[in-house]
Amino acid sequence: MNSIIHAYSDPIYNHNSQTNMSVEGRVKQIVAVLVVAVVFAPPAAVSGELVVGFYKNTCPKAEALVQQAVSRAYLTNPGIAPGIIRLLYHDCFVEGCDASVLLDVSADGSALVEKDANISQSLRGFEAIDFAKASVEEECPGVVSCSDILNFAARDSVELTGGITWDVPAGRRDTRISIKDNIHGNFPGILSYKGGVELNGLLKSFTKKGLTPEDMAVLSGAHSLGRSHCLAFIDRLYEDHYSPDSPPLTDPTMSEAYAHLLRRICRPGFLDNNTTTFLDMITPNTLDNKFYLGLLNNLGLLMTDQALTQRRNLMAVVKKSASNETWWRKEFASAMVKMSKIEVLEGTLGEIRTNCRFPNGLHTIQRNQIDDSNLQIS
Ligand SMILES: *[C@@H]1O[C@H](CO)[C@@H](O)[C@H](O)[C@H]1NC(C)=O
Ligand SMILES: *[C@@H]1O[C@H](CO)[C@@H](O)[C@H](O)[C@H]1NC(C)=O
Ligand SMILES: *[C@@H]1O[C@H](CO)[C@@H](O)[C@H](O)[C@H]1NC(C)=O
Ligand SMILES: *[C@@H]1O[C@H](CO)[C@@H](O)[C@H](O)[C@H]1NC(C)=O
Repeated sequence: MNSIIHAYSDPIYNHNSQTNMSVEGRVKQIVAVLVVAVVFAPPAAVSGELVVGFYKNTCPKAEALVQQAVSRAYLTNPGIAPGIIRLLYHDCFVEGCDASVLLDVSADGSALVEKDANISQSLRGFEAIDFAKASVEEECPGVVSCSDILNFAARDSVELTGGITWDVPAGRRDTRISIKDNIHGNFPGILSYKGGVELNGLLKSFTKKGLTPEDMAVLSGAHSLGRSHCLAFIDRLYEDHYSPDSPPLTDPTMSEAYAHLLRRICRPGFLDNNTTTFLDMITPNTLDNKFYLGLLNNLGLLMTDQALTQRRNLMAVVKKSASNETWWRKEFASAMVKMSKIEVLEGTLGEIRTNCRFPNGLHTIQRNQIDDSNLQIS
């Protein structure tokens, strides 16, 4: 966006240009051009500078090493895969795909980083990324960015769980800054269904980043994998989930039989922060289009997922995804690539971190590392 504004701004200062127009008239004209440019320019969020095979000369083994690290972590704990996919989403939606989500400390001295936000508490996969980074650093120190590693790792996670793969354009660099408050507005809560579906907020957060509502519907297929905490959907099951003897009350957009099953897992009356269940009850550990089949049968666990069936344009994506897996797989891969290009740092911006948790030169600051042992996704 900056380059567009700059290009159109130049004539203002070009006093040699041949024209009879008053300065005021010119400014008006330029402002009009600017407004048009701003309205019709593709969002600055998406960049075209990244290239596939970015490390083919500088670190030819990079992608293979990441793939090996992710596979090994996945064999130990399959929850790593949905965890890493979600990490990428949380990275790209806050200040762009710059590995800010991985930082334990911020070089600007901010006391709290993105990881400290409440919504980050269920993020998983940091240790697998550390593992991949260490392996790549050993091979070619200081060459491969953490943000590219996270992108390779997300692609590998998708391949391990769904057999979908794609070429990852690379060349991203890492930020030195991570600020907790930057999270605001990027991950609208699920809220309560009694309080209204937060689909609008979610859609807004996607369009703000240059992704379309259809991209969002296609990417929601990532919820065919992973788990969610009861707290994220329990109010779809009870009249008053805070009360231990609450009568059942099923969200009308949820299947009664499914709600009945879920009530046996999620009890009302006390804040149970630990119990989780599969997001996709049909094929819980496979990234596939069955999630959409579930939505068509009111088996969406999260209200925001089920709400995709309530908008005509999104329902069209749901139906197409459910009926044509080939189509969904292709769309999912291209939406992932699109997401991976949001507001990236390129060229000489940012740095290549040597440790994904710390900006270069700030290694000594210690902090409690997030424990990945209890892998739950919500
Ligand atoms: C974050 O969680 C804490 C503890 O559960 C809670 O007190 C606080 O209100 C939450 N903050 C936000 C912004 O939701
Ligand atoms: C769940 O978390 C909330 C907020 O952090 C806390 O107040 C509550 O005691 C926790 N519940 C249980 C059962 O641990
Ligand atoms: C929930 O998990 C935390 C951390 O793993 C644990 O300390 C706590 O006892 C658990 N609470 C319940 C109610 O199981
Ligand atoms: C399914 O999608 C693929 C890829 O877009 C397309 O080539 C194919 O024709 C579609 N199949 C049907 C039955 O619509």
